[in-house]
Amino acid sequence: MALHFEDIKPKIGSHVSWDDRDDLFTHEAAKLVREKVEERTVLVFPKLNLTDEEQLAFTDMMGGRVKLTGQFNKQEVDENVYQVTLDKKINPQPEYVLGTYFWHMDGMPIDAPPPFATMLSARKVSAKGGQTEFASTWAAWEGLSEEEQREIDGLRAVHSVKASMIPLTDAIPAEQYQKVIGIQAEKEHPVVWHRANGRKTLLIGSTADRIVDMPTVDGRALLWRLTEWAAQPNFSIRHDWEEGDFVIWDNTAAMHRAIPYDAESGRMMHRTTLVGTEATNS
Ligand code: OGA
Ligand code: MN
Repeated sequence: MALHFEDIKPKIGSHVSWDDRDDLFTHEAAKLVREKVEERTVLVFPKLNLTDEEQLAFTDMMGGRVKLTGQFNKQEVDENVYQVTLDKKINPQPEYVLGTYFWHMDGMPIDAPPPFATMLSARKVSAKGGQTEFASTWAAWEGLSEEEQREIDGLRAVHSVKASMIPLTDAIPAEQYQKVIGIQAEKEHPVVWHRANGRKTLLIGSTADRIVDMPTVDGRALLWRLTEWAAQPNFSIRHDWEEGDFVIWDNTAAMHRAIPYDAESGRMMHRTTLVGTEATNS
């Protein structure tokens, strides 16, 4: 088995290449890729052209799938493959996808360990916009001064679906908005997650609504500052998709967001989610 990894930036991202495509679908490769995801945060497999079956098999080999978002689409795809698209023929409820335009981590408001990784296959790209950006919240923590680290270590934040929908409030039809904010999912996480592997990562992004035991506005201002810090060029990369590209990222150590694109572009990503095994509350 030969897989090759080339750094994109010192603190985040690797491009992956392979001698033989079949070598990827082995337990040995899945184990190595999992380790590399933890080490490099984002792995880009250019033009891998995975089928859904291959993507699901790879997800399972890497630790197992989890269904993160209920199925809305009218197309025939496996229920564990979420179609990320604004195409109205396929997605009659675009609010979640519009929410991806803002820095976030997947699955934070859900009462389960945060999903370990998210995987996207580009099925159709947009001529304009539609890139995806990733920001390492591990590098962000490490880059803070000791004094700044002391100030935030030990804080807890409440994450909710409602918070992540705030930028959409007056921009989508009222009925749609009422429906999403009616989702009560809310979960408390540490702002600084002390990981079993000895690292610390920040759990921040659009789902983070407030800091426990801090005036709400002060807490939000702090969360915004941390988000801006993590998004700086040293800690972040932007992927400009080509059809067939496959990207895996460590959802427990990075925020991500999509650059806006037109619904008419037909942009389509097939997403699978790798189950999380480490609870944040221990
Ligand atoms: C997601 C997501 C980003 C993108 O599906 O969770 O954030 O670029 N997608 O489509
Ligand atoms: Mn997402």
